[in-house]
Amino acid sequence: MKQLTGQELRRAYIEFFKARGHAELGSAPLIPEHDPTVLFTTAGMHPLVPFLAGQPHPQGRRLTSVQKCLRTDDIDEVGDTTHLTFFEMLGNWSLGDYFKKEAITWSYEFLTQVLGIPAERLHVSCFAGDADAPRDEESAAIWESLGIPRERIYFFGKKQNWWGPAGQTGPCGPDTEMFYFTGEPCGEGRGEDCDPSCDCGRYVEVWNDVFMQYNKTAAGTYEPLAQRNVDTGMGLERTVAVLHGYDDVFRTELFASIMERLQALSGRAYEGESLRAMRIVADHIRASTFLMADGVLPSNVEQGYILRRLLRRAMRYARMLGIEGSVLPDLAMVVVQHYALAYPELAEKRELIAHEIALEEGRFLQALQRGEREFERLVARLQEGQISGRDAFYLYETYGFPLELTAEMARERGIAVDEAGFQEAYARHQQMSRAGAELKFAGGLADHSEATTRLHTATHLLHAALRLVLGEHVRQAGSNITVDRLRFDFAHPEKLTDEQLQRVEDLVNEAIAADYPVCVDQMSLEEAQASGALAFFGERYGDRVNVYSIGEFSKEVCGGPHVEHTGQLGHFKIQKQEAVGRGLRRIRAVLEA
Ligand code: ALA
Repeated sequence: MKQLTGQELRRAYIEFFKARGHAELGSAPLIPEHDPTVLFTTAGMHPLVPFLAGQPHPQGRRLTSVQKCLRTDDIDEVGDTTHLTFFEMLGNWSLGDYFKKEAITWSYEFLTQVLGIPAERLHVSCFAGDADAPRDEESAAIWESLGIPRERIYFFGKKQNWWGPAGQTGPCGPDTEMFYFTGEPCGEGRGEDCDPSCDCGRYVEVWNDVFMQYNKTAAGTYEPLAQRNVDTGMGLERTVAVLHGYDDVFRTELFASIMERLQALSGRAYEGESLRAMRIVADHIRASTFLMADGVLPSNVEQGYILRRLLRRAMRYARMLGIEGSVLPDLAMVVVQHYALAYPELAEKRELIAHEIALEEGRFLQALQRGEREFERLVARLQEGQISGRDAFYLYETYGFPLELTAEMARERGIAVDEAGFQEAYARHQQMSRAGAELKFAGGLADHSEATTRLHTATHLLHAALRLVLGEHVRQAGSNITVDRLRFDFAHPEKLTDEQLQRVEDLVNEAIAADYPVCVDQMSLEEAQASGALAFFGERYGDRVNVYSIGEFSKEVCGGPHVEHTGQLGHFKIQKQEAVGRGLRRIRAVLEA
């Protein structure tokens, strides 16, 4: 097998698909720009959802990328040999162009010829079929024609061989997965019954080709999509590990410099009792550094809350490794150093990352000290030899004291913690909390419903109106749309007067009354900017971008989708304005029927 580094694998993958007519896309940010219903980009397909649904992509029908991804659903599994929060996904897409034969053949060629994985090590699985879609004999026949014998082709149901939608609704379909057979015995005791659906680690999933030809509706039915797409995903870290014969992704070159620093700081080796803690610190600091490079700062809501959790957890485990004092800024700089070539945004934000991580570390250290004092007070008052769920949750909420920390300190004193009670208090809080970051995370991809599409167009009108009333310094800093309302953050130094707000609202309603057509043109980013289109995201745009014009009123680079003419919007109403930070203001608005 070719012992490729991460960077070599990235390039080999992109070059292979470019040679087969694919346009290379830069990685989109970790924070989805047009999808308010999820916190993070979780797969290479995520920035492509509108295009999988049928909207033409400015760079054509064959695309390839290395996408930064973050998944928090397995955060508690991090610490074993394979689970990661942040990871890189290599992918190639057909938007209504090639289908199963090309996708599977290219996957096979890349694995065996470019990576040099022996064909006899490859096992594959296909969709077994159910009421929603037929058994995928077609894919199996293609695998057979390439030389994979029947006994290495498995058929599984939806749980294994169906991908998406990433949320409740959206593009999805049957998939075929490729596994590298390690030759190890089954670690779970399934013995003869062990197959690629077993989690024992004997079969390592390296690639997934999804045949995305259905749209799951809110009613739970599967409608055929307008076009038959291919969506593939290969995990970079896992594949590098396979190529080097490691069963532990943290032993790969991708983590080497972080692991070295961690060992030097702690004076401990990467073995035995230190394994789990070192993996957690390494994973979390890498994810945090990438999040901060994409503009996330620690806070108590949404992405900022996840970042805070990752950083605090990393620090806690660093302390368990015997590292006292500051550790995170140092480790973050190691991450920046390793990844700066592939992800220049890390180097660009180097100072900001170091500064903000140091601040957060300081805040957490203080909170820990206060929390430790509070813990002692609680213990001194204890009646029943058990810390109640309510008190554990109080420590968590007020001092950022994770449950494990409370449990651990309690254990040292022979005291129990009512963990079930903590979970209840936590769940109650989650339900009440509008932030509900994790809940929202489970909510899935934007539905691109009519309501959100209308609000999306209204956001462009609002942006243009604010610039007319307040001046050209107004820049979009963020936007978030639900089915009920839009939220728009922009740079402006002071509170808007009532007159200004009224004027903005009137301008938007006049633009709606004028029933302007909404047109989309494709051009290079330079042409777009030369034509006066606004393009404010930190996104690395591709060679060609979509520019949406709304009459003469607004012109912005944007992924869409939008309504066809502004008369479809209804009445625009600003509900309130707020300050969201130094020099940043927020407007919430709705469309009324
Ligand atoms: N979207 C597919 C995945 O994430 C390729 O596995």
